[in-house]
Formats: sequence, C-alpha cells, structure tokens
Amino acid sequence: MSDFMILRPFNINDAKAILSWCKDKHTFRLWSADRYKEYPAKPEEMMEQYDGDNMYPFTAVVGDEIVGHILLRFPLEDKSVIRFGFVIVDDSKRGMGYGRRLLQLAIDHACNQMGVKTITLGVFANNPSALKCYQSVGFKITGEDSYMIDGEKWKGYEMKYVNYIQKALNEAFELGQRQLLEP
Ligand SMILES: CC(C)(COP(=O)(O)OP(=O)(O)OC[C@H]1O[C@@H](n2cnc3c(N)ncnc32)[C@H](O)[C@@H]1OP(=O)(O)O)[C@@H](O)C(=O)NCCC(=O)NCCS
Repeated sequence: MSDFMILRPFNINDAKAILSWCKDKHTFRLWSADRYKEYPAKPEEMMEQYDGDNMYPFTAVVGDEIVGHILLRFPLEDKSVIRFGFVIVDDSKRGMGYGRRLLQLAIDHACNQMGVKTITLGVFANNPSALKCYQSVGFKITGEDSYMIDGEKWKGYEMKYVNYIQKALNEAFELGQRQLLEP
C-alpha cells in the first residue's frame, strides 16, 4: 500500500483517535503544555481549542488512516508569521519519518498556499524527539524560556523557520520597486 501522506482539515471525528495517542499525562503535557485543564482531554475540548479566527487545524492521512495532527495559527495581525502547535504522530508510528513529512507538508502549505515568510513554534527541552524532528526540517532555536507545568519548572525553546526563497523574492521585488521609483 502507498504511504503517500496528505494534510486535510481536522474535524471532530478525528479528535478521539488523536487524543488517544498521548498514552500518559507526561506525553500529554509535552504535546499540549497547559492548554488543557485535565488529562485525558475530551474531543469537545479539542474543538474548543480551535474555536476562533486564525486557527487552521489539520489531520495527516496516509491511505485511509489518520496518522498525525498539527495546528497552524496566526498569532499576530501580521499574516506573514504563522505558529505551529499541537504537533503529534500516532504513537504506534513514531520514528518512521511521519513527523518529518507532516511538518514538510505544513511548511509547504504555510509558505505556498498562505504566503507565510516565517514560522515559529515552542518545544520543551525535555522532548528531544520533537526538537530533533523540528531541526531536521530546518527550524532553528532562537530563544529559551521556562514554564510551570503541573507544579514543575520546564525549560522551553522558541524555534523559527524562515522561508528564505519567499524572503529573497520579496526583497528583490522591493528593490525593483525602489529602483523604478528612483529618478
Ligand atoms: C515529535 C513527534 C511528532 C515526532 O514524530 P516522528 O514521526 O516520531 O518523527 P520522525 O520519525 O519523522 O523523525 C524526525 C527526526 O527526528 C528524529 N527523532 C525522532 N524520534 C527521535 C528520538 N526519540 N530521539 C532522537 N531523535 C529522534 C529522527 O531521527 C528524525 O531525524 P532525521 O530526519 O535527522 O533522521 C512524535 O514523537 C510525537 O508525536 N510525540 C508526542 C507529541 C509531542 O511531543 N509533540 C511535540 C509537541 S512540541
């Protein structure tokens, strides 16, 4: 069977399976930080997270099976910057390249369909598989912070991906515009 992956909009029928991929509270917090009050979360609570403008949740599908999930969200008025969140792969399929492919599809969608120039995300330092996965598709650490999670202090990294092709095209366009305007 082909293992071709697509990203399609998330819907409530995906929520139960996605939430079942966090097999313990620690993984659940690595995935969602303090966004949900309690573990395990319910499908309706997942829908509530995505209730609002500027939220684009997606489900990754291979064949007829759902294998991953990601949220794309505009955190600012400036629509050239998007933030990734809630990245997860089916726990029985981790370490097989699905996370990397899901991120590549999301980057491609953000840059080529949504016109984004910069992608940001946050990851906990005690989540090496996620950190490695983000680095493998071109994210770089740009800062660090700490967060209280269930009464413990967790270190977090801020990461950034820059769409250099779009950035270079924009700069070339702006330069061209300036040269046209100059006497
Ligand atoms: C983070 C996550 C999405 C990664 O997905 P995945 O399908 O397991 O990752 P991949 O198999 O695509 O691996 C991508 C890269 O990370 C590396 N990697 C994956 N798991 C790793 C591990 N446990 N230790 C070290 N490196 C690891 C791979 O070697 C690969 O690097 P490469 O491309 O240089 O070879 C997955 O582990 C997950 O769902 N975790 C639980 C939820 C979570 O914590 N989400 C992150 C929220 S910020």
